[in-house]
Amino acid sequence: MTAKVIDGKAFAARVRAQVAEHVARLAGQGVVPGLAVVLVGEDPASQIYVRNKGKMVAEVGMAGFERRLPADTSEADLMAVVAELNADPAVHGILVQMPLPGHLNADLVINAIDPAKDVDGFHISNVGLLGTGQKAMVPCTPLGSLMLLRDHLGDLSGLEVVVVGRSNIVGKPMAQLLLAQNCTVTLAHSRTRNLPEVCRRADILVAAVGRPRMIQGDWVKPGATVIDVGINRIEVDGKTKLVGDVDYASAAEVAGAITPVPGGVGPMTIACLLANTLTACCRLNGLPEPAGLTA
Ligand code: GUN
Repeated sequence: MTAKVIDGKAFAARVRAQVAEHVARLAGQGVVPGLAVVLVGEDPASQIYVRNKGKMVAEVGMAGFERRLPADTSEADLMAVVAELNADPAVHGILVQMPLPGHLNADLVINAIDPAKDVDGFHISNVGLLGTGQKAMVPCTPLGSLMLLRDHLGDLSGLEVVVVGRSNIVGKPMAQLLLAQNCTVTLAHSRTRNLPEVCRRADILVAAVGRPRMIQGDWVKPGATVIDVGINRIEVDGKTKLVGDVDYASAAEVAGAITPVPGGVGPMTIACLLANTLTACCRLNGLPEPAGLTA
């Protein structure tokens, strides 16, 4: 079998177009959704992410606010910036780019963000709301992965899911979202015993371990849907190549459908950041939420 390729790039473009359409409608009511991105230090990868986010925000007609702070910024100064953005009515979404320099406590900073503006869904209130099935801001990568799954499979009820990777950003919220879709969820990780055998149970296999090409074709149940969240840079013949956590060539022989890297989950993350900013803006203004852009 050769798997169907799930085109996250095309799907993300459709999500952004839907967001842009809704933003245009809000403009008629005098409301402009605003996203503030805070970058501390000069991490080159983070700088690229922040630049891309700024571009996409402008493309969908939102207002972008960027706060760049030096690497030696004190916790008090960073907290003051967060407080200012919390209080700013033009800002509906706040994202503090991770990782933060080592002297700053990321949990403290994240939990200082107004949960209603927490478009990353990392605040402890949103984590709790998601875990108890209440209306939350949902982390962007799991939300994007869920959108791809629902688009490809429709109703997910009763399906056997294995999520490999237990991070707070992807693995745990992904498991919660799929539980809420009535899936039977196993949250596996690098220390799981008999991991290949556990993975072979999955109708839906989500790989989010951060290890290049770890999941092999013979770990995949024939016909399964494989969502590869990994983005790993490896050297091949002296050139840098982006690969996922799944060994694509062997997995695509067995799976029913698979997301490529790049062009799978990656573009969905930023599309969902825009969707979350729009959702936050609607909630903060007491306006109807956009359909189809939330969990
Ligand atoms: N750094 C890499 N990905 C992310 C993300 O999704 N959110 C934040 N805040 N920082 C990141």
